[in-house]
Amino acid sequence: MRGAHAQGEKRAVTVELNGRTRQGECEPRELLSDFIRHALGATGTHVGCEHGVCGACTVRIDGVAARSCLMLAVQADGRRIDTVEGLAANEMLGDLQEAFRRHHALQCGFCTAGILMSCADYLERVPDPTESQVREMLSGHLCRCTGYTPIVAAVLHVAAARRRQREAGEGMEVTHA
Ligand code: FES
Ligand code: FES
Repeated sequence: MRGAHAQGEKRAVTVELNGRTRQGECEPRELLSDFIRHALGATGTHVGCEHGVCGACTVRIDGVAARSCLMLAVQADGRRIDTVEGLAANEMLGDLQEAFRRHHALQCGFCTAGILMSCADYLERVPDPTESQVREMLSGHLCRCTGYTPIVAAVLHVAAARRRQREAGEGMEVTHA
């Protein structure tokens, strides 16, 4: 039958993972979360509920935060995937990671990679969120350890720091105009 694939048949999937072209093989029904971890070795992405509830598996697909347990790996072919490994440049923590560390916004850390990827996407779209907006965004993630308050503080900390950087940059532009 045209379009049918024998069970066990592998497909080649190519993605841009954290800025690098990567290829792996997967079963047609393999979840993107499993493909990222097992075929590509990016084990920073965690898998909790495997049905879209906990948010632990969140990655960015073409820049948009999405649950990788709700997508097949073959659907990601040709797309850009960003995972928590991509947040640290030159082995230095990114600003979100550093704020999480400073505010003790993680304990066991199981939820953290997914939350960081949602926050990375969110702060690009909503650079000056209120506390209630941050809490609403975080409502898509389950954390058993922190009580969320330090996570909210970390996100607001990064938003404020980036705002200061933007304002300083705008001041430089005016000075050099
Ligand atoms: S593992 Fe994907 S949402 Fe829980
Ligand atoms: S830090 Fe343990 S689940 Fe969030």
